[in-house]
Amino acid sequence: MKTILIAGGAGFLGSNLCKKLIKDNIVICLDNLITGNMANIIPYLESPNFKFIKHDIINPIDIEIDEIYNLACPASPIHYQKDPIHTLKSSVFGIYNLLELAKKYNAKILQASTSEVYGNPLEHPQKESYFGNVNINGPRSCYDEGKRCAESIMYEYNKQYNTQIRIARIFNTYGKNMQKDDGRVISNFIIQALKNEDITIYGDGLQTRSYCYVDDLIDGLIKLMASNITTPTNLGNPIEYTILKTAKIIISKTNSQSKLIFKNLPIDDPQKRKPDISKAKKELNWEPKISLNEGLDNTISYFKEII
Ligand SMILES: NC(=O)c1ccc[n+]([C@@H]2O[C@H](COP(=O)([O-])OP(=O)(O)OC[C@H]3O[C@@H](n4cnc5c(N)ncnc54)[C@H](O)[C@@H]3O)[C@@H](O)[C@H]2O)c1
Repeated sequence: MKTILIAGGAGFLGSNLCKKLIKDNIVICLDNLITGNMANIIPYLESPNFKFIKHDIINPIDIEIDEIYNLACPASPIHYQKDPIHTLKSSVFGIYNLLELAKKYNAKILQASTSEVYGNPLEHPQKESYFGNVNINGPRSCYDEGKRCAESIMYEYNKQYNTQIRIARIFNTYGKNMQKDDGRVISNFIIQALKNEDITIYGDGLQTRSYCYVDDLIDGLIKLMASNITTPTNLGNPIEYTILKTAKIIISKTNSQSKLIFKNLPIDDPQKRKPDISKAKKELNWEPKISLNEGLDNTISYFKEII
């Protein structure tokens, strides 16, 4: 059995990863619970294969491990913008501390990077070779630039110390264990629709997003960790929807009485988002299998239970 550390393990993606990895491994979940929730990991707390440690990765830690998945960073703009300096420290000090740990124990380390490294992209769809169009000083830069810097630190540890790195550039993912107050598009729309509240569209709603269901994403992360790919790899679902279409699908699926209301587009909100996943397809034999239809049904059932 491997000992696998999951930083950010009580969060949305982290807890889904814990669920999958605990079957065949010892899982150590580190989390400062800033956006994570103990409820996400309660099912595993009794397991002899699971250990939770409340810890902030901006501080060093020493645990003997074989693999590290670093997911520790708030992912939703409303959360990462609450304390931008802490967000930057989480990405930059956090990955430095975890890379030191990986170096000490000769462990593999996977960084949850993001499509936000492409910023408001001028290339569409986004390939890994695209350098991005990120505003250095905007409200999103604490997240975007923190993640870009984390990739650079990963790259340098690989070059200088031959640390076995994996970089997943994750595109919008949704599903079970998202928080009610998460503030991302799918969870916002579902909550508003289930409560028959107005559905808030920012801008004209013609901006696009592509949504990956969490189970597909988790399979992609595990395949990437098992591979030998040390360069960044896009993981996401390439099927693109406008925000408007997304809202209409959710209203119809929830039989909601909600009306659409339009508000100003936030600064630097990306206009288009669609991963080019040819690298993941070819090198990992991975592509998403779960349709938006099925993924939304699962996610709506989950939110019905928790609200
Ligand atoms: N979900 C997505 O669509 C998406 C897209 C791109 C990238 N990502 C990346 O994947 C990772 C997980 O995202 P998520 O959607 O599960 O978000 P999340 O906010 O649900 O999870 C992040 C977890 O990390 C913890 N955390 C934050 N800062 C920490 C710190 N300094 N020390 C210890 N724990 C800390 C939080 O408490 C939370 O449990 C993030 O790094 C995010 O940037 C997610």
